[in-house]
Amino acid sequence: MISGRGSNMEALIDACDNQVVRADVGLVISNIESAPGLAKAHDRGIDTLFINHRGRSREEHDLDLVAAFQQQGVGLICLAGYMRLLSTELINAFKDRILNIHPSLLPAFPGLDAQRQALEYGAKVSGCTVHLVDEELDHGPIILQRTVEVLEDDTVETLSARILEQEHIAYPEAVSRVLSPGFKLEGRRTRVVLPE
Ligand code: GRF
Repeated sequence: MISGRGSNMEALIDACDNQVVRADVGLVISNIESAPGLAKAHDRGIDTLFINHRGRSREEHDLDLVAAFQQQGVGLICLAGYMRLLSTELINAFKDRILNIHPSLLPAFPGLDAQRQALEYGAKVSGCTVHLVDEELDHGPIILQRTVEVLEDDTVETLSARILEQEHIAYPEAVSRVLSPGFKLEGRRTRVVLPE
């Protein structure tokens, strides 16, 4: 699910095409019709849907999403720059099967403008987090994180660009972990148990 540029979405499509991730991207949904990512997905031959959230309740909108995902036989949902909170209905329909990527080392700097928050706070290290989605914003169990050093002359743009490079590595790896047969969720802790 996207709302914008879709570079993480492309990283996931690439990883599936290269069989780094053993899955297919079956459907890309955007709540913004003009999202550049939607056109990119379409050009790569992936089914796309624009589902407008305007003028409807979150629940109504999300029930359309659930129907679309179920019809397509989707097993895992990846939020990739999807700029809306999810309803309980959607979260429960895909319990522990929804991932999000956030451009900070959670629980530091949740919400909007995470890179700016890290810079203004004076953090020396930041990065990105892939986590399972629960009812709280940027909060669910962490699948993996990658760190990025904050440089003295960093701007929001330069830091965001270096974090984004790491996001494109982290997201496919996180999807592989969650899809692996040994993936375990115990409370907030996640791990992959290797076969003996
Ligand atoms: C990324 O920084 C991601 O962490 C955040 O939104 C941005 C989306 O970028 N949730 P893109 O659309 O994947 O290029």
